[in-house]
Amino acid sequence: MQPRLKIGVLYSRVRVEEKWIFAAMEKRGLDYIRLDDRAIHFDLDEPALWRAFDAVLERSISYTSGLYALRMLNAWGVPTVNTAVVAEVCGDKLTTSAMLARAGVPQPHNKVAFSPEAALEAIEGFGYPVVLKPVVGSWGRLLAKINDRDAAEAVLEHKSTLGSVQHSVFYIQEFIKKPGRDIRAIVVGERVLTAIYRKSEHWITNTARGGEGELCPITPEVESLCLSAAAAVGGGVLAVDLVEHPEKGLVVNEINHTMEFHSAQPVSGVDIADEIVNYVIAVAKKI
Ligand SMILES: Nc1ncnc2c1ncn2[C@@H]1O[C@H](COP(=O)(O)OP(=O)(O)O)[C@@H](O)[C@H]1O
Ligand SMILES: [Mg+2]
Repeated sequence: MQPRLKIGVLYSRVRVEEKWIFAAMEKRGLDYIRLDDRAIHFDLDEPALWRAFDAVLERSISYTSGLYALRMLNAWGVPTVNTAVVAEVCGDKLTTSAMLARAGVPQPHNKVAFSPEAALEAIEGFGYPVVLKPVVGSWGRLLAKINDRDAAEAVLEHKSTLGSVQHSVFYIQEFIKKPGRDIRAIVVGERVLTAIYRKSEHWITNTARGGEGELCPITPEVESLCLSAAAAVGGGVLAVDLVEHPEKGLVVNEINHTMEFHSAQPVSGVDIADEIVNYVIAVAKKI
């Protein structure tokens, strides 16, 4: 008889997504272990403890904890969903942009500068409005839509005076006049499972900020764009966020590697948690 697969789930908080994932694991009778990222530690002299896992699914809310855990696990040869390399790319908007650019995947026009003066010059080159984003962040936090030079100067000064080291990378993006919504598509391996529109009166449409979900048809264009975007960052279990650009058509805004799907699952009726568990099993069996 084949031994039962031993799967770890690294998490920070049991959100509804983790509840669904745990339930899907239980349904299959997997030997799964919950790994609270604030409670565990890694002893670098004891890799055997971790090598006992056939695979680890990473669901940390903390980008840093998740990334470093994945790095250690991958260094020890433990398969993870997603890999440390994918987390490194997707967790950083600038690195994601660089990988999308390399693969020729359409995205918003971005500029990067390392000083407030150079950032102001880049912003003036765009014209207004523009969007400034922290390179690492989520839930729409600290995004700034800048409508004029006064606001640009103020935000740049605030970022350079008050911001952490990360805020010294100025990631500047054209403001896209999208139709009051963006699209979140869930990609697992080679498949686009579902897509939802996230609608909001506010220009930031994250469901964490009150954006509402509605089913979006997976057209051939949505499908091929999402699969190219996922491949460009290394593939796995990903949420590819698309924006409808009035001139360029669909562009990839960002890719999330530990995505939330509390809206996408009920709106679509697709059991995303179950598909994620399927994928983790497939990754585990590759060893
Ligand atoms: N350049 C932009 N133009 C118009 N809307 C944008 C732009 N960038 C982001 N948004 C809106 O803000 C939301 C959050 O931006 P995003 O880059 O995904 O940051 P986060 O990682 O915090 O979710 C997007 O889902 C989109 O609705
Ligand atoms: Mg986002």
